[in-house]
Amino acid sequence: MTPKYTPLKDHDTPIKVLFTGYLCTVGIGYFFALVQILFTHGMADGKFGLSVDDIVYSYYGNRSGTVLEQKLNGSMKDNAPEQERFAIMEWVRNGADIDDYKDDGIEKIIETRCVMCHNKEASGIPDFTRIEGLKAYTAQDEGATFASLTRVSHVHMFGISFIFMFVGLIFSFAETTTTQYKCIAIGMPYAFLVADVMSWWLTKFHPWFAWLVIFAGMGMGISFMFMWATSILEMWFFKPVFIDGFGSRYLQWRDSPEASIADRIWVVVKTLSSQIRPAAAFVSKQWLAHVWPRIKDLVKK
Ligand code: HEC
Repeated sequence: MTPKYTPLKDHDTPIKVLFTGYLCTVGIGYFFALVQILFTHGMADGKFGLSVDDIVYSYYGNRSGTVLEQKLNGSMKDNAPEQERFAIMEWVRNGADIDDYKDDGIEKIIETRCVMCHNKEASGIPDFTRIEGLKAYTAQDEGATFASLTRVSHVHMFGISFIFMFVGLIFSFAETTTTQYKCIAIGMPYAFLVADVMSWWLTKFHPWFAWLVIFAGMGMGISFMFMWATSILEMWFFKPVFIDGFGSRYLQWRDSPEASIADRIWVVVKTLSSQIRPAAAFVSKQWLAHVWPRIKDLVKK
């Protein structure tokens, strides 16, 4: 069977160079994105390396305490003796009241222990010369804010959908993958992208969804790597890999008449979707016959 498109290996060299340049640049970009995740979210729980806790702290926040308390037990620990740190924490626990700030002697502690670094001249760290600067850190740590999540969500969806547009377009010229697997590989990143962004919002409401963040991120990564590697191999290494090398087994397996996993999934999806129409008809019939009249009655009353 000859495909209706030009297979990747048969494209002209300039097009191959264009595709390869794009894929390599995006691949390096993906690498930097992972490094950045490691350094921002990865440090959220105070330890290097990405864990579920990091994701929970980033989106849901560490609700067992305030940022000020965590810092006083963490990176600011050496800046004040035990008793004074305890006094500050107690003040925070008691509601961080402005009147108590002076009365409890907190102001004095902050002035002698913290203001030498945390002042107006310091850039990048908060100014504690006035209580307003400190107050923000005495609220419960609730993770990502609504504003930051909306911003990151739309940037992410617009930006990443473009990356997968072109990676998917290039990969759609692949000939070693069956149409079914191609559909899965091309469609999966979009499903995972939506799941990923949604999971951030869900994690903000419940920490359990941190697992979905990890799952969706991995799904995107796997489909990216699969499309990337298949495209590069087909363009430049078709003969050594798919004719003489390990890829030949893969082609045999592709052409075998036995049903593949994708075939089986396909059948299930088809059967299920053929049920959607009768199911929808049934639901709308029930709705019109039973529920809608009752709502009308209620509204009339
Ligand atoms: C030697 C300078 C220095 C002193 C003294 C100091 N800090 Fe800091 N502080 C920093 C630096 C640098 C950072 C940013 C790095 C970090 O978060 O660990 C920071 C960060 C913080 C943060 C987190 C700010 C944020 O945006 O997340 C808090 C809260 C804080 N300090 C509280 C205090 C308190 C309370 C004291 C006094 C007991 C104090 N610091 C004393 C240098 C100092």
